[in-house]
Amino acid sequence: MLQQANFDANNPAPPSAANFSPANGYAELLRVEGLRKTFRSGSAEITPLDNINFSIAREEMVAIVGPSGAGKSTFLHSLAALDTPTSGTIYFERNSLEALAEHELAEYRNHSVGFVWQRHHLLPDFTSAENVAMPLLISGVARETALRSAGEWLGEVGLGGRDNQRAGELSGGEQQRVAIARALVNRPKLLLADEPTGDLDERNAELIFDLMRRLHLAHRLTSILATHNLSLAQRANRVLHLEHGRLTQVEEAAATRSQSGAQAAEAGANAPKERG
Ligand SMILES: Nc1ncnc2c1ncn2[C@@H]1O[C@H](COP(=O)(O)OP(=O)(O)OP(=O)(O)O)[C@@H](O)[C@H]1O
Ligand SMILES: [Mg+2]
Repeated sequence: MLQQANFDANNPAPPSAANFSPANGYAELLRVEGLRKTFRSGSAEITPLDNINFSIAREEMVAIVGPSGAGKSTFLHSLAALDTPTSGTIYFERNSLEALAEHELAEYRNHSVGFVWQRHHLLPDFTSAENVAMPLLISGVARETALRSAGEWLGEVGLGGRDNQRAGELSGGEQQRVAIARALVNRPKLLLADEPTGDLDERNAELIFDLMRRLHLAHRLTSILATHNLSLAQRANRVLHLEHGRLTQVEEAAATRSQSGAQAAEAGANAPKERG
C-alpha cells in the first residue's frame, strides 16, 4: 500500500520529515536492525558499520553524509545485498534478506533495488541505450523491447535521441544520467545512489540532484543518497551522518531547515528544464 505523501511532484522543495511520521500513515519500506560490518586486513580490523539501526518510509528521500572512508558505500552495498553484513538484519517489505533464497536475492537486487554507483561503471564501447537496457537484457527481455524502454528512460533523464551515442563519448554529467536511467529501467521501489554528484562540477551536481529529486517524486521512489555535499543533502527529507560506525540525525539540519528549505525551493523553482 503506497503512502500518499503530502507534496507536489512539480515542487522539488523538501517536505518536512513530519510527513513521514507514523501519525501521517508512515509506511516502512526498509528496516535495518543492529547492522554491523567488519573488514579484516591482516591483523587490523575496521568496523565501518557498528550496530546501525535505520528505517525508511515509502517515498521518503534520505541523504547520508560523512567523511571519506566512514562507510557510506559499505552501508549502501549492504542495503542492496551486494555485500553481506557481519551481523544484523535488513528487512525489505518486512522480509529479512537473510531468509531469502539465492534466486529471491537475485530478484531483489535486480528488480527491487536500483543502484547508482560511485563510479558509474558504464560500458564505454556500448551505446547509451545498450547500457541502460543491460538490466532488462540480463532479465531476459527481448533486445528490441529493452532498447525501446531504454530510449524512453534516456528521454526521462534529459538524453532523448542520444540512444546510439557510445557511452565513452558522453560528458561526466551525461554518463551519470545514463547510469540513473540504467538504475531505474527495471522500475525498482528503492533507489540507492552512491555519491551520484561526486565527480561533477557544482552546476552539474545541482542539475543531477534536481533530476533525481524529480524522478523520485514522479516514480514514487524511496531513495537513499550518499553525498559529501551537505547543501544538496539538505534537500532530502532527512539527513543522517555516518561516522565511527554510527548513523546519527544531522542536528544542524533542523536548525537551518527553514533557511535551506527556502533556498532549495528557490533553486527548484529556478531550475532549468533538463536538456533534450
Ligand atoms: N572490501 C573491503 N575490504 C577491506 N576494507 C574495506 C573493504 N571495503 C571497504 N573497506 C574499508 O571500510 C571503510 C569504509 O569504506 P567505504 O568505501 O564504505 O567508505 P565511504 O564512506 O564510502 O568513503 P568515500 O566517501 O571515500 O566513498 C574504509 O576504511 C575502507 O577502507
Ligand atoms: Mg564511498
